[in-house]
This record gives sequence, C-alpha cells and structure tokens, in this order.
Amino acid sequence: MTISRAALCPNGLEVSQLIAGFWRLKHWGLSAKELLRFIQTIMDMGITTMDHAMVYRSEAPFGEALALHPSLRQQMEIVSKCGIRPAGFGPLGAAQTSHYDSGYAAIIESVEASLQDLRTDYLDILLLHRPDYLMDVHEIAEAFARLKSQGKVRYFGVSNFSTAQFDLLQGVWSDGLVTNQIELSPYHMQALDSGTLEQCAGYGVRPMLWSCLAGGHLLNPIDAKGQRLLAALQRIREETGADSVEQVVYAWVLALPSQPLPLLGTSKLERVTDAVKGLSVQLSREQWYSIWEASNGAPVP
Ligand SMILES: NC(=O)c1ccc[n+]([C@@H]2O[C@H](COP(=O)([O-])OP(=O)(O)OC[C@H]3O[C@@H](n4cnc5c(N)ncnc54)[C@H](OP(=O)(O)O)[C@@H]3O)[C@@H](O)[C@H]2O)c1
Repeated sequence: MTISRAALCPNGLEVSQLIAGFWRLKHWGLSAKELLRFIQTIMDMGITTMDHAMVYRSEAPFGEALALHPSLRQQMEIVSKCGIRPAGFGPLGAAQTSHYDSGYAAIIESVEASLQDLRTDYLDILLLHRPDYLMDVHEIAEAFARLKSQGKVRYFGVSNFSTAQFDLLQGVWSDGLVTNQIELSPYHMQALDSGTLEQCAGYGVRPMLWSCLAGGHLLNPIDAKGQRLLAALQRIREETGADSVEQVVYAWVLALPSQPLPLLGTSKLERVTDAVKGLSVQLSREQWYSIWEASNGAPVP
C-alpha cells in the first residue's frame, strides 16, 4: 500500500501526503543501519518527505544513514528549518540566551550546517522555524535569494507564523512561500480560528501540521479534556470501523478544506503503516464536530 503525492503549492512542488518528522529521532536509539531501514521502509510506502530542523539534532544521524545509500537522496524531499538559537549549542556557537535569529548571516550559516550534517548539496524546502519578533523581511528575502541562486535551497516557507507575518514576508518574496507548518490536533485547536488555514487555501498552498496526536497525549490523556477526547475518538473509531484512534485523528485533520499535510512523529513502523492505511477513513460532519465538542468542552454556540 502506497500513498499518493500531494501538490504543495501552485508552482508544481510535490511532497508526500504524509510527512515523516524527525524531531524525536535523537531519542529513538537507532543505529545508522536501523535508521536507513526505517527510511527505506517508509519510502516504500510513499512517504518521501522528511522533516528536520537544525535544532532537532536529527540531521547528523540522518545524514549518516543516508551516506549508507546515497542514491536515496534524489528520491526524497528534505525539509529543514532555521532561525532558532537555543542556549548552549548550535552551528553559530553557543548562545547564552535562547533566541530567534532570522538575520541574513544566521539563515545562511544554519543552512550550511544543515547541508553538512545531512550530507547533501541541497534542501528541498527551508522553513523559518518560528517568527522572529525582530525580523527584517527584506533581509530574509535576500538570504533566500542567495541560497536559491546557489542551488542550496529549492523552495522556502515558514512555520508557526501568524497570518500577518506570513503576508509580510510573502509580500517581498516573489517566488511565494510554499507552506506554513503549524500545530493542530483535536487537543490543540487554536489554528482552526487563527485564519492560517484559510490564508493557505487563499494562496493555494497546503499547511503542514505538527503534533496531530498532541505528542502522544491523545492516546494517553493527562487531563479531563484528554479523557473526553479519547472517549469520543474511541466511539467514532467503532462507528467508522477505523483500525485505531490515530486513524480517526488523521481523518479529523484531513477533513479540513485547506487540505493539510500531517507530519508523523513516530519511530514505530506499525504506527506508520496504520496511518497510511487510515487515509481512507472519512468522518461525517456530526462525527467531526463531536470531536470538536469533546475538545471544547461544550457544543458549538
Ligand atoms: N515546526 C514546528 O515548530 C514543529 C514542532 C514540533 C514538531 N514538529 C514536527 O512535527 C513532527 C511530529 O510531531 P510530534 O512528534 O509531536 O507528533 P505526534 O504524532 O503528535 O507525536 C508523536 C509521539 O507520539 C507517540 N505516539 C504515537 N502513537 C502513539 C500511541 N498509539 N500511544 C502512545 N504514544 C504514541 C510517539 O511515540 P512512538 O515513537 O513510540 O510511536 C511519539 O513520541 C516532528 O517530528 C517534527 O518534525 C514541528
């Protein structure tokens, strides 16, 4: 069973309908060979888009695995992110205070470090990881233009940007931003009201969604809201005949008209397979809103 390709934006760039996220890779405890096997297996299922960030420290181990089978690089799309400088480490030297830096030099140096760690010549997509309160969009566009002209990055987007921040950068980056990667799950529904999904739809770009399972908390609730949600998800799993609660969660985000692309965060192949198999699960409007209601704690007004 393989998943289909998804047009990310009007300029023809395609990614996979589910994206593999490697934020948690450093906790997976995989050898380079085991990681390579994981990558090959998910690629066989059609998951070709790999999400990284300089701050995840996932790029060096991923690059090590890729070096065992270099021809895989041409068959995948690599997303990376820049702009966060955590206290204590980073390619630009250890900062004393964690901060954001979307300055020209910081973007260029972060990409250089990502390319070196990933052992590749180019990134398919570079995202600004977080909006920088001090950002100068003209400087960002200059850095993007240089990276593009050097062939080091093919496309650019953002993550966790408000609609106003997206518009500001979109206004000076003539190629157009290709996505806004944001948090959305039945547990964290703020994005439903932020205007981001509608903005993406208006520009013809698809949002990428992180932590759709709320980092696993939807399966192991930590509060009353989580317990309400799990009960609703389990009921709808039975009604729809879905194999798992996770499949119901992915069906809930995929029902959105902005056609978002969920990121997976698991190290377990059986969970990836389950997500792929669940892509055909469909929810009725009433089922969708009963999950919304379980999260909200009250019916729609
Ligand atoms: N742009 C941003 O600011 C941003 C922020 C956060 C994340 N991201 C991206 O989004 C990706 C996905 O985020 P995420 O990892 O938070 O996704 P997630 O799918 O919400 O959470 C994944 C976690 O849930 C656990 N899990 C999955 N199924 C489970 C189950 N049935 N029971 C218990 N635990 C379960 C996984 O553990 P197992 O490994 O054991 O399955 C893993 O620890 C990241 O890798 C990263 O690429 C981006």
